[in-house]
Amino acid sequence: MEKKLHAAAKHAYSRAYAPYSKFKVGAAILADDGKIYSGGNVENAAYPNGVCAETSAISAMVLGGAKKIRAIAVVAGGPKLVTPCGGCRQRIAEFADPETPVHICGPGGLKTTFTIAELLPASFGKRNLRDKKPGLNPKRARSKTAK
Ligand code: THU
Repeated sequence: MEKKLHAAAKHAYSRAYAPYSKFKVGAAILADDGKIYSGGNVENAAYPNGVCAETSAISAMVLGGAKKIRAIAVVAGGPKLVTPCGGCRQRIAEFADPETPVHICGPGGLKTTFTIAELLPASFGKRNLRDKKPGLNPKRARSKTAK
């Protein structure tokens, strides 16, 4: 993992807004444009409105004009591995290849690396929406209901 990627995720970790859980998380993406996009978790007094660090970083990447995640690093404190939550795995997969690395880090550095396919096996993705089987094609479904 690039040092710069860890440094960006660690900076985002330090800026995260987590007054309720007291559990700060930072994430940084190395994107296909060669740039690094980062984000931290941003919680809210209305708890379900909080967003994860990975989701914040993905928003920054999309707004920056990049299209693909080449690698993502996540920084959190404590002794345990903090891997992305289920929803964030799905959001990462949207912009990644199966072998895209997800680096799990502490403030001090890399702990371990998974691929997104390891974290989200047998996933649902855009390829499923292109399925031509009757009933699964949105165009055909529409023409059937129109009759
Ligand atoms: N959180 C993240 O930002 N990323 C993860 O990978 C796991 C969890 C946040 C959500 C919430 O603000 C806090 O950590 C505690 O769950």
